[in-house]
Amino acid sequence: MPIQEMQYSNPPSDGKFALVLLNWFRENGRDLPWRGTHDAYAIWLSEIILQQTRVQQGWDYWLRFMHRWPTVEQLAVATEDEVLREWQGLGYYSRARNLHFAARQIVEMGGFPCTFETIRSLKGVGDYTAAAIGSMAFDLPVAVVDGNVYRVLARYFGISTPINTTEGKKEFAQLAQVLLPPNEAAAYNQAIMDFGAIQCTPQSPHCMLCPLQESCSAYRLNRIAELPVKLKKLKITERRFTYIYIRYAKDANHPVLTAIRRRGEGDIWQGLWEPYLVEEADDAFPSFVKSDSGQLQLISKDFRHVLTHRILYCDFYLWQTTVKPALTVDYQWVDEHELEQYALPRMIELLLQQLTSTNININNK
Ligand code: ADE
Ligand code: SF4
Repeated sequence: MPIQEMQYSNPPSDGKFALVLLNWFRENGRDLPWRGTHDAYAIWLSEIILQQTRVQQGWDYWLRFMHRWPTVEQLAVATEDEVLREWQGLGYYSRARNLHFAARQIVEMGGFPCTFETIRSLKGVGDYTAAAIGSMAFDLPVAVVDGNVYRVLARYFGISTPINTTEGKKEFAQLAQVLLPPNEAAAYNQAIMDFGAIQCTPQSPHCMLCPLQESCSAYRLNRIAELPVKLKKLKITERRFTYIYIRYAKDANHPVLTAIRRRGEGDIWQGLWEPYLVEEADDAFPSFVKSDSGQLQLISKDFRHVLTHRILYCDFYLWQTTVKPALTVDYQWVDEHELEQYALPRMIELLLQQLTSTNININNK
């Protein structure tokens, strides 16, 4: 949905929000050693360090890197080992390896790239970092979206869309871009990040002294603790199924029957029908499967099917027999031709399609 059509309790584009933040920043912004420079290398280095490190801890590392390798050309001729050793103690060492790799990319490009897309193409640089470098080093009008930005926007505009969904990412990115004053991208981006880090903090934000308090949706509606909304990552569980599709016909003069049952409550596919199932058993095969009473065929092994929060792996067998197996009472025998009258889970439908395409005509008489 375009931003303009969305219903926010505060109009996003009246310019007031940005103006308040810029004024706040002039008084309260942090004095960081890489601020006030337009050196893309210095800014890039600081942003890579700050990706997973607090300002407090990253500061000294930034100073040491800048002292040892003052330019990207010098960093590019260092060895990876030297860079890793200088990085020691910061953690997430892939950042250091990417940094070193990207330094060589930059030199190959003939200098630091200056468009959003070319900056974004550097190893270890995502949307956030490209926007940060682009705006601070080259005054590109691109809005940053980091954890601070999500929090400030969600609270001030009262947005409940979860920030860790595709929809949420898109909505917040669009809103952030609408709010950005194009001529003050560098200051504004740093202002909103500092505001989130200092004023509108995750726990106990300083609402009493907040210049946005009067028009803040979360403050007015007492929703500060609940915003921003983040969906809990449910653990994806794996399950293994073994299905045995039974084709039983006493002889050629009798219809082909198959056994199905209806799935019960409290599990996936409630109310849908399924063939003979062996779930998670050590001995997957029921006693009715004996070589002298029929023919067993593997149709599909480890068939993978993804449900919300679940991945199913399924082995699918065909058992053709002229001896009617004794099954538990939850199974019922139906004419194979009438199978389509029963609601089947999508995965079973897909497996049955394999049955027909494996040259076994399940509909023959
Ligand atoms: N976090 C990471 N980079 C930042 C910046 N340039 N300003 C404020 N907070 C930040
Ligand atoms: Fe954040 Fe509180 Fe200010 Fe609203 S009033 S922007 S919640 S600090």
